[in-house]
Amino acid sequence: MAAPIVALADVGKDFAGVRALHGVDLSIEPGEICCLCGENGSGKSTLIKIIAGVHAPTTGTVALDGETRDSLSSTDSLRAGVRVIYQDFSLFPNLTVAENIAFTREVAGRIGFVSRTRQRAAAQEALGRMNVDVDVDRLAGELNMVDRQLVAIASALASDARLIIMDEPTTALSQREVAALLDVVKALKADGVSTLFVSHKLDEVAEISDRTVVLRNGEKTADRPAAEFDREALVAAMTGRTVEYGTLSVGPVAADAPIVLDVASLARAGSFDGVDLTIRAGEVLGITGLLGSGRNDLALSLFGLLPADSGTVTVDGRVVQLRTVQDALDAGIGLVPEDRLTEGLFLDHSIGDNIVIRTIDKLTGALGFTSPTKMKDAAWRWVDELSVKTPTISQPVSTLSGGNQQRVVLAKWLSAEPRVLILCGPTVGVDIGSKRQILDLLGTLAATGMAIIVISDDVPELLDVCHSIALMSEGRIERRFDRAAITEAELNTLLMSA
Ligand SMILES: Nc1ncnc2c1ncn2[C@@H]1O[C@H](COP(=O)(O)OP(=O)(O)OP(=O)(O)O)[C@@H](O)[C@H]1O
Ligand SMILES: [Mg+2]
Repeated sequence: MAAPIVALADVGKDFAGVRALHGVDLSIEPGEICCLCGENGSGKSTLIKIIAGVHAPTTGTVALDGETRDSLSSTDSLRAGVRVIYQDFSLFPNLTVAENIAFTREVAGRIGFVSRTRQRAAAQEALGRMNVDVDVDRLAGELNMVDRQLVAIASALASDARLIIMDEPTTALSQREVAALLDVVKALKADGVSTLFVSHKLDEVAEISDRTVVLRNGEKTADRPAAEFDREALVAAMTGRTVEYGTLSVGPVAADAPIVLDVASLARAGSFDGVDLTIRAGEVLGITGLLGSGRNDLALSLFGLLPADSGTVTVDGRVVQLRTVQDALDAGIGLVPEDRLTEGLFLDHSIGDNIVIRTIDKLTGALGFTSPTKMKDAAWRWVDELSVKTPTISQPVSTLSGGNQQRVVLAKWLSAEPRVLILCGPTVGVDIGSKRQILDLLGTLAATGMAIIVISDDVPELLDVCHSIALMSEGRIERRFDRAAITEAELNTLLMSA
């Protein structure tokens, strides 16, 4: 039998004060789909960075194709056919799609210089293998999240990958694209290409995994054929406890609750049209629809980023103009964005500063003096409330795991106590146990009289936290359902056919 493509033996990794991995053995065979699961901060991304040669292990060894070493360089790993698509993936924004794809091929040492025409043809072929239609002449920086993600995968495919590692590849994708991506993974397997797949979405894992590996607090707690795992066993291996599903996170809206947000005939050319919405104090409204349905543009518009051409928005009975983000903030509207890395956080700044940045005004006393103790207390309160896994609030946000960065974005907005809070994919990248906790917290906030909009296509999540759900398609709100009036299966069907 051929040697495993990679084999880790007794691998450990310490960062200053944090043991990210401990005593991990893992090997990946040719043509195998291996899923890596674990709570936020359990060490998944760190493990991947060791295989990619980005981090050297503190202890243990790594073998490529049966050849053992203490550590790898990223070139070793690339040469062996390992391609990583990172959670916070990076294409070169100022290069075109074709150039990005060609670049990976060159770095992987597969080809020398090629003409522009050949570059474009290779890029088109790789995208074609995935059934994806992206203009190869566009700059990567102009693409939306989904297309960037797909181009990153196409780059790997175009450069003779043997092991493709995907760190939460589906977080930015809607259902239809997820299905397409999983098909790509299966097709790769048929070609003998291995995949190491990290996801918090357990139904995806169940669909594609041959073998499932679970990390908890940096240690491997399970490594078994996927068929031996049911959902409960998997959650138990991840969390060490059982987690309840399908329980409602919100209480009823008071019959006499006043309307907080009233949107009438809102329109923006090319984005959305004729949008009417009312949300009462304490109410959570879900907005769903496919990418391109206008749901995200509507959110950005209510936050002053994409001003509407016509229509009115009223907050607490006062008509507000939303031409800039400052207008939205003044009107008491907050937005938790989908792309936390570019829109939500100052990565080099401390966890504490990121959390209190929106509340400085409130914490500033009459003399304009901000008490460092008050700021610290406020930051710690939210770190506790959202269980951000960190020993200190003074280290940069960039040292947190992906799911913990997402919690900091949430904390930043929750601490600002807006009247209207819009959340795009609030639990994207958050592990299953914590998801419950975050949804419950939204329920608690709603109960204080906030109006909340959750933009998501995670159907169970919508049904858990929303009082009603609006379905958008082609820029219009097609229907609005009471949550009690629709089932998970019905909503899934509507979404897939929207
Ligand atoms: N560069 C770093 N400096 C300090 N600590 C780090 C660094 N990178 C990771 N860590 C810590 O190592 C631990 C494991 O992080 P890792 O990113 O591997 O988690 P993860 O399993 O990928 O989580 P998630 O699901 O949230 O992405 C975390 O406690 C994290 O804060
Ligand atoms: Mg991670």
